[in-house]
Amino acid sequence: MGSDAPRLRGEQSEDFCGAKVSASLNIPRHIAVIMDGNGRWAKKRGLPRTAGHTAGADSFRRAARYCRKLGVEYLTVYAFSTENWKRPEDEVAGIMGLLERYLRQALRDMEKEKIRIRIFGDLAPFSDKLRTMCQECVERSKVYSGANVNICLNYGGRDEIVRAAQKWAADGCPALTEERFGSYMWGGDIPDPDLLIRPGGEKRISNFLLWECAYAEMYFSDVLWPDFDEKQFDKAIEAYQHRERRFGDVGSGLT
Ligand code: FPP
Repeated sequence: MGSDAPRLRGEQSEDFCGAKVSASLNIPRHIAVIMDGNGRWAKKRGLPRTAGHTAGADSFRRAARYCRKLGVEYLTVYAFSTENWKRPEDEVAGIMGLLERYLRQALRDMEKEKIRIRIFGDLAPFSDKLRTMCQECVERSKVYSGANVNICLNYGGRDEIVRAAQKWAADGCPALTEERFGSYMWGGDIPDPDLLIRPGGEKRISNFLLWECAYAEMYFSDVLWPDFDEKQFDKAIEAYQHRERRFGDVGSGLT
């Protein structure tokens, strides 16, 4: 990897890992990731699935560092879905343990890292300990705004939309626009993802950020999440930089 010196958003430097990420200022502001392939990564190595999640959690930390370095303002990761409760008990416990470890480190290093952490999802089914740690991370990190990490826990895109409708109804059904409805989403105060990355070979969005990804560029890769390193992020961002985002308009005629 190149220098750890802070980089302006989209700024290119000579030591940029030999990466082809363009010098244009077109670094996605918000990247969302479906961290898929941990189980297969472990299986390939004859390891238990939980070892794959441990490697996946390391990959997430590396991704957060790299996105911050590139000037990506928001990184949103799918850590545990509303459907993941169906997994074997030991696997669920393993993921909970990794989350606790991450939150403990985040609380310890908060002053130094200055990352704002948000959690998207209903924390009610989690242990008191995990819930308290999540709440403490969210509250204490509110003062930071440079880099933002959003962790989706017990999250489902349809569930989020239903909850948004319930919050809107509880607000007395104010005149409804897309913008207002979007404000009831878990990340209602942040911009929508520009780029959705799914490693692990599957080409679907699996109930992730259904509302928010309406105009996100999709990037699918066969690389398994624990192996999705800085070079893979460069490739994803380079692909993004070659897309023309038309938002329903006719565009520049270049594509
Ligand atoms: C999907 O891969 C991954 C998950 C359901 C869990 C992701 C959790 C982590 C990376 C660890 C904790 C996260 C943080 C933020 C500290 P899979 O198990 O479905 O992989 P497979 O398709 O190869 O079986």
